[in-house]
Amino acid sequence: MNLKSTIPKNSSKLENILIIGNGGRENSLAWIIQKNELVQKVFLIPGNAGSERINKCTRIKIDINNRKELVEKLDTLKIDLIIIGPEIPLANGLADFLRKNNFKVFGPGKDGAKLEYSKSWAKEFMQDANIPTANFWKVNSLEEAKKIINASPIPLVVKVDGLASGKGVFIPDSKDECLRAAELIFNGKFGKSGNVVVLEEKIQGPEVSVFILCDGKRYILLPSAQDHKRLNERDKGPNTGGMGAYSPAPLLTENCLNRIIQEIIEPTMDELNKKNIDYKGVIYFGLMITESGPKVIEYNCRFGDPECQTIMPLMNKNFVFLLEKCAMGNLTGQEIIDTSDKVSGCVIATSQGYPQEYKTGFPIKIGKIDSSNCQIFDSGTSLNKNGELLTDGGRVLSIVCQDKNFDLVFEKAYKNLKEINFDGMYFRNDIGHQVRKNFSREN
Ligand code: AMP
Ligand code: GLY
Repeated sequence: MNLKSTIPKNSSKLENILIIGNGGRENSLAWIIQKNELVQKVFLIPGNAGSERINKCTRIKIDINNRKELVEKLDTLKIDLIIIGPEIPLANGLADFLRKNNFKVFGPGKDGAKLEYSKSWAKEFMQDANIPTANFWKVNSLEEAKKIINASPIPLVVKVDGLASGKGVFIPDSKDECLRAAELIFNGKFGKSGNVVVLEEKIQGPEVSVFILCDGKRYILLPSAQDHKRLNERDKGPNTGGMGAYSPAPLLTENCLNRIIQEIIEPTMDELNKKNIDYKGVIYFGLMITESGPKVIEYNCRFGDPECQTIMPLMNKNFVFLLEKCAMGNLTGQEIIDTSDKVSGCVIATSQGYPQEYKTGFPIKIGKIDSSNCQIFDSGTSLNKNGELLTDGGRVLSIVCQDKNFDLVFEKAYKNLKEINFDGMYFRNDIGHQVRKNFSREN
C-alpha cells in the first residue's frame, strides 16, 4: 500500500488506541494499527486470548454497557482514538455516546448503524436512492406474509428485520418452506428482531464484499474481498459467518467497479447526507453481481469477518491515519491505497459442529509456522490457568497469508494449517478455488 497521506492535521496524538470487540476482525485491526510508530498502546475490550500475542496490545476487562465506568476508564487510559468493531454496540449507540464524551470514534452512530440493524429500513433507503437491489415487501404480520408468499409465482427469500447474528436469512426452495420460515419468525424465534419480516425476490450471481471508509462526507475504497459463507467445500452446506476469504476479488473488473461506484456507493453517500446521517466508519456492501449488474444484498456498518483479517495485511502502517481521518471528518477522498504488489487469503479453522452446537475447551497445538507474510488471528480462543491456548468459539482462528499470487498464498496457508491442531478442528480445503490456478476441482 502506498498511502499518500501524511500525519493528519489536527492530529494531536495517536498514542493510545482502543478497539472494542472480541473477534479475529478486531485482532487484525490491532495488528495493523500497532505497526505505526506513533502508537504506543492498543487496548482491546474485551479482545480474546490471541490479542496479547500482538505487539503493544493489552486486554481490558470492563462492561461496555456500564457507560460511566467505561468513560472513567478511557479517561484514565488517555485514549486518543476508538474503533468499534461489532454491530451490536454500534446499534446500541455506543459511538454517539463516546463522541458526546469527546472521544474520537471510528464507527457510525445509531442512525448510520440502522443500515445493518433494520433490513427493511435499509431496503427503503435503497429504494429512496434508486440503488439496485432485489425487489422486496416489508411485512408486519404472518397473515400479510402468507398473502404475498402465496401470490408469488416463485419462492421468496425470508429475512428477519433486525440483528440475528447472521442466522436470520432463509432461502427456501418451495412456498411451503417460505411459509414455515415466516411462521418461525413471527412465532418469536428471533425475539423483537423478528417483529418485522422482509420478503425478497431471489436473485442470482456471485457475491463480493466491498468496503469504504467514510468520514461523513467523503470516502475511500478498500480492496474488495470474496467471502466463503457455506460450511462445506464446493459451497455446500449451511451458511456460516464465513469460512475463509481472499482479497482483492478479480471478479470485480474495472468496469464492474465503476458501476458499483456510480450506481451504489455514490448514491449511498448522497442518501446518507440527504438524511443528515454523519456516517464516520466503514460501510460494508454485500453485493451480488447479477446478469443485469451489481445489486446490494445487504449493508453492514462494520468490517466483515473474515474479510477484515484478509484485507488488513495488505494495508501499511499508516492505516491508522485513515481511521483517524474518518473519525475527525477530514478525509480528502484522494488517499491512495495501492495493493498491486500482493494478494491475501485467509482460511478459518472451526470447532466440530459449527455453525450449530459445538464443544469448546480443547487445547490448541501450534507447531512450526512459516510466519513470513503469514499471520494467525484468533477468533474464539481462551487461556486456561496454565496459560494453555484453548478453543472457545465456533470459529476458532484464521490463518492469513500474502504473496504475489493466490496459488502461493493458499499453498502457504494450508501448509501452516497442518501445523495447527485441536480436537474436532475443521476447515475447507477449497478456499480461493475461484482464483487458484493450481486448484484441482477433482479434490
Ligand atoms: P445476508 O445476511 O442478508 O447477507 O444474507 C445471507 C446470504 O443469503 C447472502 O450472502 C446471500 O447468499 C443470500 N441472500 C440474501 N438475500 C438474497 C436474495 N435476495 N437472493 C438470493 N440470495 C440472497
Ligand atoms: N463475512 C460476513 C460478515 O462479516 O458478515
